Amino acid sequence: MEVIVSTSILSADFGKLAEAVELCERSGVDRIHVDVMDGHFVPNITIGPVVTAAVRKYTKLPIAAHLMIENPGDYIDAFIDAGADLVGVHVECYGERRVACRAYGQYPKEIDVLDVPALVKDLRRIRARGKQACVTINPGTPVECLAQVLNEVDAVLIMSVNPGFSGQKFMPSALTKIMWLRAQGFKRDIAVDGGVNAETAPAVVKAGANVLITASYFFSSQDHRGVVEALKRLGS
Ligand code: DX5
Ligand code: ZN
Repeated sequence: MEVIVSTSILSADFGKLAEAVELCERSGVDRIHVDVMDGHFVPNITIGPVVTAAVRKYTKLPIAAHLMIENPGDYIDAFIDAGADLVGVHVECYGERRVACRAYGQYPKEIDVLDVPALVKDLRRIRARGKQACVTINPGTPVECLAQVLNEVDAVLIMSVNPGFSGQKFMPSALTKIMWLRAQGFKRDIAVDGGVNAETAPAVVKAGANVLITASYFFSSQDHRGVVEALKRLGS
């Protein structure tokens, strides 16, 4: 499968976002990944629809909005209006949380049983607006949760770090999840997010993922084009 490279602007200089997305474009990146955090679903606050709309003005590349927020359904339209081409919602927002992460300030958020109708409703809302619907899963949530929604999505995003920050270490448990999805016959995009770099990406692609998301590996490099080319070479 061809590898799609998506760069997360979380590691960009937020004072020079236009230049950052132009750098992505010049370096051969396929997509811009926007990490949206609300300080509730994750312990960090980043950006929202206003900045997404600003980024939209400076690139023709597809924009993926990774919503790490409570009640993501309330913001689907806002991100699509801001120019997102793909909207990703976390399964952990659809279903009862584990006791250990139920209270405010307890992270990471994880579930065992998915509220399928609630999630499907939001996925269909994304698709009804002609955009790609992506379901995203935290490292601690069992991948089997996804079994009943696989035909409702354009992509699955597997978190290989607990969400909240760039620059964390890749968790190999993501590989088992990718393989499980492909074993179910899932043929659409599988994206991996967190700690993707020259060392970890080969195993990610070998396991069956085809969308590589990177923030720190790309933005901290001196050879941006080289990073993208190296990742894309992993595809076939
Ligand atoms: C983590 C974000 C990731 C993050 C990736 O919560 O969803 O997209 O920016 O950063 P790196 O590539 O540095 O692990
Ligand atoms: Zn992300």
